[in-house]
Amino acid sequence: MSLHRDLEFTGRRVLVTGAANGFGAAIARLFHAHGAGLVLADIEADALSAIAAGLGAEAVAYDQADPASVEALAARAGAVDVLVNNAGILVAAPLLGTTPAQIRRLIDVDLVGVILLTRLVGAGMVARGRGVVLSIGSQTAFCGGENRAVYAAAKAAIAQLTRSLAVEWGPRGVRVVSLAPGRSLTRMTRDTAAPSHAGDRGLARVPLGRWGTAEEVAKAALFLCSDAASYVTGQTLVADGGYAAG
Ligand SMILES: NC(=O)c1ccc[n+]([C@@H]2O[C@H](COP(=O)([O-])OP(=O)(O)OC[C@H]3O[C@@H](n4cnc5c(N)ncnc54)[C@H](O)[C@@H]3O)[C@@H](O)[C@H]2O)c1
Repeated sequence: MSLHRDLEFTGRRVLVTGAANGFGAAIARLFHAHGAGLVLADIEADALSAIAAGLGAEAVAYDQADPASVEALAARAGAVDVLVNNAGILVAAPLLGTTPAQIRRLIDVDLVGVILLTRLVGAGMVARGRGVVLSIGSQTAFCGGENRAVYAAAKAAIAQLTRSLAVEWGPRGVRVVSLAPGRSLTRMTRDTAAPSHAGDRGLARVPLGRWGTAEEVAKAALFLCSDAASYVTGQTLVADGGYAAG
């Protein structure tokens, strides 16, 4: 038995949101290397076009906070075999320092937009009797974190969305999984994961002694979406260097 074939995506159409930066760009590159046909989506049209051009992918600019824009993305993407819900934002602030507009935007992008896109793209998967939905959650869903109250609440909802949809769509041939990274080195965390940052208790609690990388997150994402994980559904894989274990 070998895993090589199970990790191949040749002939499959994969939609990755938030693909212009960070995890999404790394996920797009790795899926491309494994043969996937890609539809890449992001709010940053220029950065997205640059990544998509390098991978021979379709690029769709959209705003995940706007239901009409999400609907247009789903229509453009058409029949998709794998949906990677990766686009997200972080408001790293205490709740008392967060405005209602910031709260609303975070929930719209990190939760409502994910549910709406999953509903639209997932309908096609259910109709065809196959597909995988992977949503990028966060380890803060389980551990919480300083200055993360609203973000952690949205990401905890992703874990429960994953469980419930897996129950709903499992009998229809669709797997629904989630990946919960710990803090990793991307633009989103460039301040709090910088080597010079001493402002919170984070790194001291990571048994592996370092932050994660986008490439490590991409590898876990590819596994979860692949046939190597064919009996995995409803679960969230925590990839956090051991933070949640401590
Ligand atoms: N970096 C971390 O430490 C970390 C840890 C756990 C989870 N995550 C999650 O991983 C995902 C990717 O984060 P990242 O670290 O790569 O951040 P990032 O900022 O580098 O990338 C996020 C991408 O989402 C896009 N995006 C933001 N708002 C959007 C919108 N309204 N519509 C469409 N696209 C939008 C951005 O343009 C960007 O390309 C997010 O869901 C994030 O919450 C990140």
